[in-house]
Amino acid sequence: MSTDRYLTFALGKGRLANKTLELLEQIGITCEEIKDKDSRKLIFVNEELKMRFFLSKGPDVPTYVEYGAADIGVVGKDTILEEDRRVYEVLDLGFGKCRMCVCGPESARELLQHHERIRVASKYPNIAKDYFYNKKHQTVDIIKLNGSVELGPLVELSDVIVDIVETGSTLKENGLQVLEEICPLSARLIVNQVSMQMEKERIGKLLSDLRAVLKDKV
Ligand code: PRP
Repeated sequence: MSTDRYLTFALGKGRLANKTLELLEQIGITCEEIKDKDSRKLIFVNEELKMRFFLSKGPDVPTYVEYGAADIGVVGKDTILEEDRRVYEVLDLGFGKCRMCVCGPESARELLQHHERIRVASKYPNIAKDYFYNKKHQTVDIIKLNGSVELGPLVELSDVIVDIVETGSTLKENGLQVLEEICPLSARLIVNQVSMQMEKERIGKLLSDLRAVLKDKV
C-alpha cells in the first residue's frame, strides 16, 4: 500500500495514552500537537511520518480498530476482554499492570465457595458473566455499574464485585478484599485485521521496534 496513506492510532484517554506516547517517542514516533493539554482538537497528525493519532474512551478503542477507523489501538486487556471485538492483539506493552478480581467483604468468601446465587456488581458484565458461568459454573445475577464499583457491597447492592485491582488501596480503605483472581491485565497493542495484511511493512517495523525497546526494559 502507498505510504501516502496515514497510519492511524486510537489511544485510550488518560494514563495509558501518556505511557503509550512515551513509548512511541523511544522508537522515534512523536506527535507534538497531542501534548498541548489545552487543545480541543480530536485528531493529531505527524505529517512527516504519515501518522495520525486520536484519543477516545477506552471501551471505544477496539470498536475503532475493528471497523478500520484506526489501524492500531492501545487499550487495557480488561477492555479487550469486555468488548470482544474482531481485532488482533499483538503485543503486551508491559505497563498498566493490574488484576481483574472478584472482591468483597470476607463474609462473602463462603458464598463463592458454596456456589450460592449471589449478586455481582461490575463495570465488566461480560467478564463477570464469562467467569461465573463458564469457568465457575455458578449462576449469579450481574448488575452493571459505571464506576465506583466498590460501593456495591458497601450499600448492599451486591454481595461481591468484579473489578480491577491495582495497588489494592481502594479495597483496603473500604474494608473489602480480593476473594478470587480472574486474570492479570496490562496495556495491549491491537491491530485491525485488514491493516495487518495491507500495512504489513509499516506495522511490522513498528512491532519490531517496540519489541526491541520493551526487551531492554525487562
Ligand atoms: C479503578 C478500579 C478500582 C481502582 C483500583 O477505578 O475500578 O476502583 O481503580 O485501583 P487500586 O487497587 O490502586 O485502588 P478507577 O480509578 O478507574 O475509577 P472508577 O471507580 O470510577 O472506575
